Formats: sequence, structure tokens, C-alpha cells
Amino acid sequence: MMQLDQLNRRLFSFAPARWVGRHIYNRQRRRQSRAQSTTTKFFRNLQQLTVLAGPLSYLADSGTLSVLVAGCSYGCEAFSLAGFLALQFPHLNWTIAGVDISKDALRVAEAARYTGAHGLGISTDALAQKLEARLFDRSGDEWTVLMDIRDRVSFAYGDVLSEEFRSFKDYDLVLGQNFMIHMGEEEAATALAALVNASRPGGALFLGGMDTETKTKLLAPHKLIPLDWNIAGIHEDDMRRSTWPWNYWSLEPINRSEKDYLTRYSTIFLKPL
Ligand SMILES: C[S@@+](CC[C@H](N)C(=O)[O-])C[C@H]1O[C@@H](n2cnc3c(N)ncnc32)[C@H](O)[C@@H]1O
Repeated sequence: MMQLDQLNRRLFSFAPARWVGRHIYNRQRRRQSRAQSTTTKFFRNLQQLTVLAGPLSYLADSGTLSVLVAGCSYGCEAFSLAGFLALQFPHLNWTIAGVDISKDALRVAEAARYTGAHGLGISTDALAQKLEARLFDRSGDEWTVLMDIRDRVSFAYGDVLSEEFRSFKDYDLVLGQNFMIHMGEEEAATALAALVNASRPGGALFLGGMDTETKTKLLAPHKLIPLDWNIAGIHEDDMRRSTWPWNYWSLEPINRSEKDYLTRYSTIFLKPL
């Protein structure tokens, strides 16, 4: 039987329903109050990760790769990326730093032991299964990240809105995903500027999980280059798609005729040299 969220997604993909959906969404966006959440999961957007073996593979050319995962929550996003790098680039010298403002979430990340309560799911995808095999020592319901991966990933308290965060600099790759959607425009502008500042010229940023209107407006002054690669695939892989238009944090169906299509829908950006 088709699940409710699949039904919802299918219903609002048709043009007339999409028009109604936009009205509902705009209303929800105005009325619902925004609140941060630590919701995350392993392998949240595998299609996005695979860009590192495609157009962004040049980032690994120097033999080292430094990554910052801002808003890392329980660490699932950082470890998903870690598993991908370990599998795809066995000789690459990579490090990942994760920061968050939730001390509870950081405690889970530091322990690197996971159950369904903190982001483990059932993986049917072949790549996800390979990543699980590379990442975890699996014992019953509790899976522990293997030491060779754990040693390359660090977690610390860090607030992207703070002055201190300006000292995070020169990362080859910066992930700032699924927390700016919960911020008002002014805070999101500060967070985005801090993330851009943390990336080195020539580096890349993953910026999924922003309100598409706000994103288009706020990105303009930074002159980042949106990557035109598998945009629709990554968009449809985003779990926020299934509840549009009912939640302010949900994600609209892709619309090729939107002006600023690339900036609006790409989640991968390059920082010019
Ligand atoms: C919804 S989770 C997303 C986790 C992960 N990035 C992902 O995409 O799955 C958002 C995380 O961002 C963190 N966060 C919110 N505001 C932040 C800030 N100002 N600085 C750093 N982290 C923040 C929250 O505590 C939460 O753990």
C-alpha cells in the first residue's frame, strides 16, 4: 500500500495541486514558529555524497582533505561522509571536524555508538549497505563506529552565529545543512556568511536544508557557483520533500521554470578562487 507521505508527494507534484500547495506552504511559512531540531540520520542524502567521486573528485587530488560539518547533531552526517571517503579514497588523508550547539547531541556523536534512536535506519540501498559494513562494528541493535574512522572525526561545541566561529577557516569542504531552515532570515544570513568564510577559495560547500526563497536571496552577495550536477536526484532524495506543503521546513517540488533555478535547487556550491 502506498504510504501517506508518498501519496502526499505524488499529489502535489501535479501542476494545479502545486499551485494550491504553494499557497498552503506560504501560509505555513508565515504562521508556524521556527525551532531548532536535532533530527538527522545516516546516509541522509547519498546522491549528494557521490559528487565527491564525480565533479568534486579534484578536492582529493592534493592527497589531503579537511572537512567541517557545522550543525553535526549526533554525528550521522559526519560519519556517513567519513564512510564514503574511507571507501572511495582509501589512500586519502582526510579529517572531519563536527560542531554543534547541542551538548546532548555532541555527547552521542562523541560516543559514536548508535541505535535507531539516534539515526540508524534500515538500509536497502546497495551503497548504504557497503557504507554500513565499512563504518560499524555491528553488535545487536547498537552499532559502534570503527576506530580507524572514529580517529579521524572530531566533535566540539561551536556556534556558527558566534564571533568565535570566525576562527574556523580554510576547509576544503564545508557542510552546513538542515539548520538554517529553522532560523529567521537575519540569523540565516549570519550563519551563511560564517560558513562561506570557513571554506577556502576553490573549496566547496554543501548547503541543503535552507528555505529556497531565503537561500536564493542570501546567496547572491557571496557569488558562490552552484554546481549543475544531479540537482533533481539530490532534491528528490531529500526527506523534507515528503511533507510539503504542510511544514515550514518542508521542500517544494522542483520547478525547472523558476528563475534562479540553479541557486534555488542546487545544494552544492563552489567558492571561487
Ligand atoms: C536538523 S539537525 C541537522 C543535522 C545534520 N546537519 C543533518 O543534516 O542531518 C540541525 C543541527 O544544527 C544544530 N544547530 C542549530 N543552530 C546551530 C548553530 N547556531 N551553530 C551550530 N549548530 C547549530 C542543532 O543543534 C542540530 O543539531
